Formats: sequence, C-alpha cells, structure tokens
Amino acid sequence: MSRTTSFKLVLLGESAVGKSSLVLRFVRNEFSDFRESTIAAFLTQTVTLDESTSIKFEIWDTAGQERYKSLAPIYFRNSNAAVIVYDITQPPETSFEKAKSWVRELQRQADPSIVIMLVGNKTDLESQRKTPRELGERFAEEEGLLFSEASAKSGESVEELFMEIAKKLPLA
Ligand code: GTP
Ligand code: MG
Repeated sequence: MSRTTSFKLVLLGESAVGKSSLVLRFVRNEFSDFRESTIAAFLTQTVTLDESTSIKFEIWDTAGQERYKSLAPIYFRNSNAAVIVYDITQPPETSFEKAKSWVRELQRQADPSIVIMLVGNKTDLESQRKTPRELGERFAEEEGLLFSEASAKSGESVEELFMEIAKKLPLA
C-alpha cells in the first residue's frame, strides 16, 4: 500500500528569475517564453519516492515584484520547504544577492526545520552566464542549503531538484 504525505513548499526570488516557469515545468511539463508576472499561485504535484511512499507538494508560487514583498511571510510561515531562485544570466549583485537576502529572512522568520533549496535558473543560456556556479555552491554549503542549477526552458534538473527536496522532508 502506498502512503502520501503532504508538504507545503514556497518559491521565492526576484521577479523574472523563472519561479513560475520552474513550477510549470515541474507540474505540467510546460514552458512559455512569455509569462506574466505572478501575484500568487497555488499548484500541487505528487512524486513517488518508493513503492510505499509518495510526497504531495502543495506549492505557493509567490510574486517577485517588490510591491508584493510584504505578502511573502504569509506563504513561507508554514512552509516545510522553500525554493529560492536566482538568474545565472544576471550579475550576482542583482538576483543572487536577492536570493541571499531571502535565505536570511527565512533563517530569521520561517520554521527552523524548513528545507531550503537554492536554484540558479536559466542554464540553457550558458553563453550569457554572469553568476558563476561556484558562488551559489559556496553560499549553499556555508548556509547548509541544498543547491542546484536548472533550466525551466530545457527542463534540465527540474524534476531532480524537487526529488532532492522530497528526500529531505521528514516522513512521520
Ligand atoms: P514573477 O512572477 O514576476 O516573480 O517572475 P518569475 O520569477 O515567476 O519569472 P517567470 O517564470 O515569469 O519567467 C520570467 C521570464 O524568464 C519569462 O519570459 C520566461 O520565459 C523566462 N524564463 C524562465 N525560466 C527560463 C529558463 O530556464 N531559460 C530561459 N531562457 N528563460 C526562462
Ligand atoms: Mg511568477
């Protein structure tokens, strides 16, 4: 018999880094080059860990736009996991710095047991890379976070990063 356990997951990060695109790749295996800015969206996806265990992700895709920033705690407060996204084609002073500030905010305000995954998105644009992989890797290691680079567009590492989170979640 298979048992399904539900967990809440929140996506955070600067506007246009690809939060919604990563979720839609994961949930519907879709991608669009033209995606509207999010206010808030709720989606679910279930993954199978083994023949007896499934994990249902209840996903809050939040707004990266500054004017909605005050809403974020509503979504991350009860979250079991957070995916914090930056864009590797931007210089580190922009979306990577923003990602770091989200990590700090979660460390102060979220549940201490929250599983945090840092994601550098848009690896399909390798030739336009401005944030080195090592910067993300090192920061994640220092702070005890999971880390992945991914591409919502090509699908590279998207399923895998959610599976990695699933494996870290506490099963009763
Ligand atoms: P907000 O909802 O405003 O916070 O933005 P977001 O982080 O949800 O970004 P969104 O998913 O809307 O993507 C922003 C833009 O980046 C869109 O034009 C996407 O098509 C594009 N994009 C997202 N992921 C990728 C990717 O992996 N590669 C490439 N080349 N483009 C991407
Ligand atoms: Mg969005």
